Amino acid sequence: MNSALYAQRRARLAAQLGPDGIAIVPTAPEQPRNRDTDFLYRHDSYFYYLTGFTEPNAWLVLAGDGRATLFCAPKDLEREIWDGYRLGPEAAPAALGVDEAVSVATLDTTLPRLLENRGTVWYPFATYPGLETRVDGWLQKVRARVRFGALCPEQQRDLCGPLDEMRLVKDAHEQDIMRRAADISARAHVRAMQTSARMLRAGQDVREYHLDAELLHEFRLGGSQYPAYGSIVAAGANACVLHYRADAAPVRAGELVLIDAGCELDGYASDITRTFPADGRFTGPQRALYDLVLASQDAAVAATRAGQRFNDPHEATVKVLAQGLLDLGLLDANKVGSVQDVIDNRSYFQFYMHRTGHWLGMDVHDCGSYVEPTQVGEVSERKDPLSGELIKNRPSRILQPGMVLTIEPGLYVRPAEGVPEQFHNIGIRIEDDAIVTENGCELITRGVPVHADEIEALMRE
Ligand code: GLY
Ligand code: MN
Ligand code: MN
Repeated sequence: MNSALYAQRRARLAAQLGPDGIAIVPTAPEQPRNRDTDFLYRHDSYFYYLTGFTEPNAWLVLAGDGRATLFCAPKDLEREIWDGYRLGPEAAPAALGVDEAVSVATLDTTLPRLLENRGTVWYPFATYPGLETRVDGWLQKVRARVRFGALCPEQQRDLCGPLDEMRLVKDAHEQDIMRRAADISARAHVRAMQTSARMLRAGQDVREYHLDAELLHEFRLGGSQYPAYGSIVAAGANACVLHYRADAAPVRAGELVLIDAGCELDGYASDITRTFPADGRFTGPQRALYDLVLASQDAAVAATRAGQRFNDPHEATVKVLAQGLLDLGLLDANKVGSVQDVIDNRSYFQFYMHRTGHWLGMDVHDCGSYVEPTQVGEVSERKDPLSGELIKNRPSRILQPGMVLTIEPGLYVRPAEGVPEQFHNIGIRIEDDAIVTENGCELITRGVPVHADEIEALMRE
């Protein structure tokens, strides 16, 4: 473990807490799944960002002068026989580079002492139910000592603010892990595509879960700990359900399969979607829609570089999709008007109802403000053409090198009056992960092909 890296992050954060500030950072609680079995444990991303420590039952306390105290589970031979190795407070300072480590069993007595004579307590607001109550309890203990001369913190501030800003721009270490996560996920998509074609050629019954199994196999083979989110493997019309999961529906020749799946590697997510013909050959209508989504993604990629705004790729996507929907007859110009009308009135929303991307990092929908922090005061109002709701707009975030985002346009055609039948039940999304650079962006997920011809060639192999 590179403990210097985490020490640098703690120092950067400490400098923002103020000299009399102190931050409390819990890791995630264990979550019961049923009776005495827990969900697979996943640490808290903020905590991990500052410590590199993945054990449950731990807290970091960071003072404004940079002093870091870790509370962690004490060594316990019997518990370790059942649950596995624990680092323990004795070994933690050398292993993690913290100044001090104590047993988490002492949290309620030790933490109030650390809060004494501090002005501001920082902790992540609205993250874990009950955290505010625990902070209250610790502050009550400090207050009980004011008659002995102790000062009680007068302010509480949200630690998510400074931490979100730090996490939004990924350092070289983070980018390296994200590239490796993306490579593993790309291989998994290739494997699922090839398996689909091979099994159908062999006349086998293919189900969505068969392809999910191929994804999981490749994730774990590459060293990934788990999927970064529930994999979507959607055959045929299921692709039009945005939050579909990998279920048991048959994967049939002649239909498309939409797979949205990415692994998590060493705490970092990847997020890829590919849509491919189950048997390796696009039909005409499928290809027409596919090429349109891909062209809209090309436009979004071209709009992704430092200095552009977060919304620019979305707007570039929408422009291409709007024109294509008119050209292919999914929207009737006699009814909806010009391309500009389609955009202004959001008529495309019938087929494209999500945004073109999100931040990506430790969390698949990563933290970080989508509003440009230097322009939060520049509020404008607009009326949403579909709901009539008055929406407050602020200028969207200016992209900087090292920010990572997804670029994921799609089209989802549910049967409806006036929609040409040849397109019914086709759902397509194409999603890649991009690291913003000075002059453009680096697409880190192109280990799996995206052009229709290349997908067909791959599936013939
Ligand atoms: N896989 C989640 C998303 O694409 O946002
Ligand atoms: Mn995504
Ligand atoms: Mn996705």
